[in-house]
This record gives sequence, structure tokens and C-alpha cells, in this order.
Amino acid sequence: VTSPPTEPIGIALLGCGVVGSGVVRILAEQRELLRRRTGLTFDVRHVVVRDVKKHAEHAGILPLSTDAQAAIDDKRVWIVLELMGGTDVTGELIERALRLGKPVVTANKSLLAEKGTQLFSLARQHETCIAFEASCGGGIPIIHALSTGLLANRIDALVGIVNGTSNVILTRMTRSGWGYEQALDEAKQLGFAEADPTLDVSGRDAAQKLAILASLAFNVQVAEADIHVEGIELVDAVDITFARELGYVVKLLAIAERRDADRLSLRVHPTLIHADDVLSDVAGSFNAISVWGHALGHALFYGRGAGQMPTASAVVSDLIGVALGTTPLAFKRLKIFPDTTAPADVLPFEQLETRSYLRLTARDVPGVLAEIAEALGRNGISLSAVLQHEVDRGQHVPVVITTHLAREGSMRQALREIDALTTVRPPTVCLRIMDQPKEFGVS
Ligand SMILES: NC(=O)c1ccc[n+]([C@@H]2O[C@H](COP(=O)([O-])OP(=O)(O)OC[C@H]3O[C@@H](n4cnc5c(N)ncnc54)[C@H](OP(=O)(O)O)[C@@H]3O)[C@@H](O)[C@H]2O)c1
Repeated sequence: VTSPPTEPIGIALLGCGVVGSGVVRILAEQRELLRRRTGLTFDVRHVVVRDVKKHAEHAGILPLSTDAQAAIDDKRVWIVLELMGGTDVTGELIERALRLGKPVVTANKSLLAEKGTQLFSLARQHETCIAFEASCGGGIPIIHALSTGLLANRIDALVGIVNGTSNVILTRMTRSGWGYEQALDEAKQLGFAEADPTLDVSGRDAAQKLAILASLAFNVQVAEADIHVEGIELVDAVDITFARELGYVVKLLAIAERRDADRLSLRVHPTLIHADDVLSDVAGSFNAISVWGHALGHALFYGRGAGQMPTASAVVSDLIGVALGTTPLAFKRLKIFPDTTAPADVLPFEQLETRSYLRLTARDVPGVLAEIAEALGRNGISLSAVLQHEVDRGQHVPVVITTHLAREGSMRQALREIDALTTVRPPTVCLRIMDQPKEFGVS
């Protein structure tokens, strides 16, 4: 295991942007608190950036440079904090540090989702470790909980709101009745969405985080490609309104559930959840992760899922865990990390049994509802509720249907048949419904 550091602990900080500058702030402003609590002191030996000129306010205060390799190789550096982002260059730099036996703390979910297994394995070969609390849920200590606090539990499900941007947009659409584009524009103006928000609104960012969280929770290797992903781009304000009428709220959920013995259902998609589910109250840029452990039951981890100081909080906690030796010991001893576990047995999405919300645009003529019900019935799908507002005869009208549990593959087939009806204007909208576990049912 990584040998104990000599004091003060030498740090190479790769990246001093949003998160990196938060780490610098905590280490400077809380130096005394950290020393008192942990007995440790830290010395930032290098701060590596792309362009030193951009950091004029730190000139002469921070040891700025652009040479990441030299920073990593420096003998005075005991630990490397990777807060640059990106995968190719960053992956090589992390490998370099690990080969030197230096522990790495990273916030980089994209890199871990892509190469986590190889990097963990490399760390193990060189008797060091990787800490990655900040990669999921920003400041929420969910990695620590899954790898320590919940160890006694067989985890049965993990359901998270883990993408702040999507949650900001859906919250605005829900509360103000805005359309997607208007809500996205506001999120950009307020700094909650990037100029190119694709990674966030497509559900990919949530899927990368789910890959990391599910690997730890279920002790299997989960690749991003194992996860069925749908984003929020096509969520229409009208569906949010209908959902509310039926008692539901629409959220982008990252879901990992144990189904059929040890098979895992892994998915990210807009989901209707009951208005009395605790996740329905998670608003704006907040994140929350619901975990069901067989012994504990339900636990909710809630907090700021991104931002300078919350994310830096997670990075500094990791730094301390590594320096104290608790993180390296857990990394060495526990068989929960993806390089020590088998690939996940993933339930194909078409085989998933789920409830659905359908919105059809149908012509209000005699027999249309019967035709739709027949198409569903032919595929073994039964209706739970039907909602239609009054319109003039012969007009096109939205018809909303919720179903009982049905296989996703059967639903796809039924939708093809429904969209082929002359009385229906395709495409029919289909969102999944997630019922809360009984424990939290309304009595
Ligand atoms: N922002 C959040 O709220 C948040 C939350 C959770 C996780 N994360 C993760 O944390 C990481 C950092 O995010 P961030 O928001 O802090 O990014 P950021 O503000 O863009 O900062 C990136 C920093 O890395 C430096 N950098 C980038 N590429 C470099 C290279 N090739 N060589 C040297 N320096 C390089 C940049 O230098 P310059 O300053 O010269 O441009 C900048 O200082 C990412 O992996 C991100 O996914 C971020």
C-alpha cells in the first residue's frame, strides 16, 4: 500500500478551473481546521494549467506551470489531483502518476466510465490507489457511502437524479409551464448549462455517473454502453402537465435495479415518478441518489451535485482519506472495485418490465379508443388509466394512457401498430413510470 506521506504532503494539482480553484481555496482557507482535525498539512507544489496568462491573479502566489509531466515526476509530489477533465491526455497523465506509485484523486467521470477498470488495475499493480468521490454527485459523499457505510447491505436498487443541468431544465418546465428550448436558454444564461449542453441533456453524463455508481453498488463492471440512455430533449411541456394531472412529476433518472436474480437493469431516461416520492422534490441544480439496501431499507443522499465548492469538498475529503491511509487500505482490501469484479449481467432493455405513459394524438371518431386498446391488448399490455379532455367531434386530440407492467419489447411492437392506425397521428410519446417501493407507499 502507498507508504505514509511525510509532512507537509506534496500535491500536484492538474487543472485550476472551477473545481481546482475551489480546492486551492479550501486548502488555503481551512489549513488550520484541516491540521487540527486530521493532523495533516498540505503543500501545493505545482498547479498545472493550459494557459498561465489566464491566471494572472494567482501569479506569484501559486506555483503555476503548463508542464504536467514535470509536476507529476517531481519527487516532492506525493499525490496528484486531476481536475483538468478530458480523457486522452488526462488518461496518460494519470497512468504516469500511477506508474510512479503516486495516488490519484480525480473528479473525471468521463475518464472513469471509459477507462476506470484499466486505471484501477494499473493502480493496484503499482500498489497505489485512485479516489473518485467528486466524479458522481458533486459534494454528496455517495462513493464513500457505497464503499464503506453500506457495505453490510445487498443493494437492490439505486435511483438517482445525477445531472444538475437536466434537473434545472425540467424543474423550470414543471414549475412555470415553459417549453424545453426556453428552459434550456435560461439554464445557459444562469450558468447551469454549457454552450453545448449535449452531454448533459442527452443523458450521457448521467449514464457515465451511473456506470461508476452501479459498479460500486453491485460490485460488477458496468460500461457506459451497458446502459440504455434517453435524454430530455424530446420532453414536451404538455407531457409534464398531463403527468401532473395523473399525480406524477417528470425527472431524468439514472436507474440501476437488481432484477431476475443478479441481472441488472441499467437505464437513464425521463421518468414519471409519484408526486409523493422524495425524488420529486429534488429541484434545480440539486442531486439526489436513492439507495435501497436489504438491511437498511431506503436511504437518500441529497445535496449539491456540482459547482466549485461542493465538488472541491469531495476532492479534499478524498485527499485526506488517501493521506490518512484509509482509502488506500480499502482500495487494497475490498473486492468492490471494477478491476476486481466480473462484467455485469445486464438485462436487455426490451426485456425490462415497466409501466408506461403514452400520449397519442388521435382523431376523435367512434371506435378509436377501442382500436388503441386492442393494439395494446394484442401485445399483452393492459391499461391503468385513460385521460382525454373534451373536444369537438372529428378533431385531433391528445389521449393519455398509463399502462400496467409490460415488457418494453411488447410496448415497442404495440406502438408500431398504434402509429400505423389511420386514426392516430404518429409519433406516439412513450415515457416510463417508476412506482416507488412499497415501503414508501402512501398509507
Ligand atoms: N465544474 C463542476 O461543477 C464539476 C463537478 C463535478 C466534476 N467535475 C469534473 O471536474 C473536472 C474539472 O472540471 P472544471 O469544471 O473545474 O473544468 P474547468 O473549469 O474547465 O477547468 C479545467 C482546468 O484544467 C486545465 N486544463 C485543461 N486541459 C489541460 C491540459 N491539457 N493541460 C493543462 N491544463 C489543462 C485548464 O487550464 P486553463 O485554466 O489554462 O484553461 C483549467 O485550469 C472535470 O473532469 C469535470 O467533469 C466538475
